[in-house]
Amino acid sequence: MIYKPALSYDDVLLVPKYSDITSRKEVDISSELDKNRLLQLPIISSPMDTITESSMANSMADAGGLGVIHRYNSLEMQVEHVRRVKDDARKAAAIGITGDYLDRARALYDVGVRILCLDVAHGHHVLMEKAIKNIKSLYPDAHIMAGNVATKSGFEDLASWGADSIRCNIGGGSICSTRIQTGHGVPGLQTIFDCLRADVGRDVKIIADGGIKNSGDIVKALAAGADFVMVGSLLAGTHQTPGDVIYSTDGSRRKIYRGMASKEAQNSWRGKHSSNEGISTTVPARGDVAEILVDLENGIRSGLSYSGARNIMELQINSEFIV
Ligand code: XMP
Repeated sequence: MIYKPALSYDDVLLVPKYSDITSRKEVDISSELDKNRLLQLPIISSPMDTITESSMANSMADAGGLGVIHRYNSLEMQVEHVRRVKDDARKAAAIGITGDYLDRARALYDVGVRILCLDVAHGHHVLMEKAIKNIKSLYPDAHIMAGNVATKSGFEDLASWGADSIRCNIGGGSICSTRIQTGHGVPGLQTIFDCLRADVGRDVKIIADGGIKNSGDIVKALAAGADFVMVGSLLAGTHQTPGDVIYSTDGSRRKIYRGMASKEAQNSWRGKHSSNEGISTTVPARGDVAEILVDLENGIRSGLSYSGARNIMELQINSEFIV
């Protein structure tokens, strides 16, 4: 038996540092997904059926980020959403690692997707190795995003199999119940600290995925070593999320936000459920996601200036966490 303590976002703060930054405009928060893709905003919207279809993907791209079109629909429907993403360089979509994943990959590649996200709950898995290697050999020019993992060895294995960016964190999302149902997981921030120590011999990007509640958590994730954050709940309920507005008994307007491993999500996309590792809930219907992204961007810029950092690399060098 091995025991080790671990830190989560709420366990730490960043210590303010001397700053000579006089305007938030001086702060550059861009981050490279790979040599060919630079995102001006280091935020990626999650491939969930209540978060990212074409409308969200377009708004994320407009704001400088990225949206990954979810896979919980028919191949034709997913392809149609990809077609509606205006910017060719920002066509990103999720596939699984079994079933029709090769058909999806081909159809998505044919409509311009060059960022394929191999999207499963437990990514440190023998089937993931096979899937990454298959996709890499068929589409060597595609960026492979894969996950999720919770450990350094998980990160190292996915990187050695060919992943270009890796979603880090298991069970830490706001709608996750994996930790409750299975007893497994690692706090999100600790996962970043651990994955940063991975020895992979090339530049594989760290995506801090899930459990990010505000711009402060984004700054903490970036300071800890993440290149990007992936978020669901921060964007839930906005105009750009899929699904209709629901009127609750008190007349308030709400939208569904649900974990993809919840009973409700599984029942709706494959007519049955085999587990229940997510929660389905409703959140207040909110306005345009662009406004939320501007607030997050301002918070991140301000966060960097509190650490005296002009860019994310300087933030990572300067950052001092207090527990
Ligand atoms: P936030 O906290 O941003 O988290 O709402 C979004 C992330 O949660 C993950 N996800 C799940 N995890 N059961 C889980 O344990 C689920 O049903 C589930 N659905 C999504 C995923 O990594 C997402 O980006």
